[in-house]
Amino acid sequence: MNILVTGGLGYIGSHTVVELIENNYEVIIIDNLSNSELFILDNIKKITGVKPKFYNEDLLDLNKTNEVINKHDIDGVIHFAAFKSVSESIKYPLKYYRNNLLSLINILRSMDENNISNIVFSSSCTVYGQPDKLPVSENAPFKKAESPYSKSKQISEQIIEDFVNSNDNISSISLRYFNPVGAHDSGMIGELPIGIPDNLVPYITQTAAGIRDELSVFGNDYNTSDGTAIRDYIHVVDLAKAHLMAIKRLNNSKKKNIFEFFNVGKGTGFSVMDVINSFEKINNIKLKYSFKDRRDGDIEEIYSDVTKSKNILKWQAEKNLDDMMSSAWKWQKYLK
Ligand code: UFG
Repeated sequence: MNILVTGGLGYIGSHTVVELIENNYEVIIIDNLSNSELFILDNIKKITGVKPKFYNEDLLDLNKTNEVINKHDIDGVIHFAAFKSVSESIKYPLKYYRNNLLSLINILRSMDENNISNIVFSSSCTVYGQPDKLPVSENAPFKKAESPYSKSKQISEQIIEDFVNSNDNISSISLRYFNPVGAHDSGMIGELPIGIPDNLVPYITQTAAGIRDELSVFGNDYNTSDGTAIRDYIHVVDLAKAHLMAIKRLNNSKKKNIFEFFNVGKGTGFSVMDVINSFEKINNIKLKYSFKDRRDGDIEEIYSDVTKSKNILKWQAEKNLDDMMSSAWKWQKYLK
């Protein structure tokens, strides 16, 4: 089976490409290298023994996208390509809406024009905002989005829903990721933040590597056990496997015109201090950190109810927080 992976050289995309290849799928990647690097393609080959087909194209160009799709008999699309920085989206909302929404629209148009039925979409738990009830299940309503990035994910899911409703040939699964961290066991693919990392785990690994002086822990006055904010961290390899289950589910389904969405988390909340403690313990490293004010736009606590993914998608996370922290450090050492 031929799967088109947009953003296939990015953080989650590259791990998913590895899982697909290891499960005998043919992978075709479109990636414009806006937040990824070409050596990842070579490393995918080193890990799997297979170099996937790669096109350095921008999905905003519908003709080019169609050209790539026409060359291959595509059985399904996994659409990762999007901008993902919350803080950058607040600064440059139009850039985010243009890129994230138009690339999705182009992919859907191209699927329609080329008779491709199945799409797995990279969504985020950010669609929930600060939920009223924890753990948050898929039934929770979309709350006010905290950033243009978050809003772009809410709107994207709605665009897909409208398109599925209007077109009997299209089926989709949106995966709502919680906090993806860690790296492949090989230590040869992982997250590549541009500049100063926004996210906790790359900041931790860069601090441990001496690239950053000190980690700031944003807020220790939250209403949580140790005062720091709680998130549902999920190992990126577990997350990649959820995509495999989703594309299989769509491709094997007798039912047409599916519109589904699933939480993809571990179902456990960890505080910022839990993450730091795990990193220090498993890697035997002392981290330099200090407590600072809360970061604007952060919510106190979120973690997932994964009952639906377990029961329907037949997927659940297997790796623990220590696995996430040891693999993240292995990857950082590879980069150093
Ligand atoms: N944090 C620190 N110090 C840092 C970076 C982060 O203390 O240097 C804290 C944050 O304040 C937060 C926690 O670590 O409490 C996790 O922060 P991240 O930036 O790693 O992750 P977020 O939960 O803020 O963001 C993630 C994804 C977004 C997504 C969002 C949805 O990165 O793409 O979840 O809730 F939109």
